[in-house]
Amino acid sequence: MRLEPLISERRIRSRVADIAERIDSDYRGEPLSLVVVLKGAYVFAADLVRRIEMPCTVDFVTATSYGRATRSSGRVTIRGIDRLEVVGRRVLVIEDILDTGLTGAAIFEQLAPCKPADIMFCTLLRKPGAISRELPVLYAGFDIPNDFVVGYGMDYAERYRNLRDIRRLIFDSRDAEPEADKASDRLP
Ligand code: PRP
Repeated sequence: MRLEPLISERRIRSRVADIAERIDSDYRGEPLSLVVVLKGAYVFAADLVRRIEMPCTVDFVTATSYGRATRSSGRVTIRGIDRLEVVGRRVLVIEDILDTGLTGAAIFEQLAPCKPADIMFCTLLRKPGAISRELPVLYAGFDIPNDFVVGYGMDYAERYRNLRDIRRLIFDSRDAEPEADKASDRLP
């Protein structure tokens, strides 16, 4: 198993600044609530909010579905939506990655009854599987191929979130598909 560079720190920084500028322009004068999806989006969100100049609130929810595996379990557990106060506000959900799009769809479904003015998505990365799902994505930093990626907040079995760039995790042919509960034992 090895890591290969995919998106450099410099490209990320520049794209984050572009997105923040567009948010300022698109939402100007409107009540904006950013809803950050933990854990993966924490680094992206921290950089993005510091670039946004207009007033906005920032809240956090957690969503998990991958555990220690590289594929979605298909079951998304979301916590924290009940604490949000977004009635009549425009909600922008901040995601690190839309992969299968299952997490985004589940969040949309659970947020809608909170009666926000609207719900849009801002994701740093988007994979092909999420494009076919009809989520209202207003900002997508990078469309990437179907590789498993880590860094800049994203993990494999809770590791690599601290990398400053984004890298592909490559499994060698001799690596068996990681077992969900043993993945951390396989790390170098
Ligand atoms: C990851 C990622 C997204 C979601 C995207 O979360 O942070 O929230 O999966 O995948 P999907 O589009 O296929 O649903 P994960 O379950 O790994 O939890 P984490 O953010 O705490 O690492």
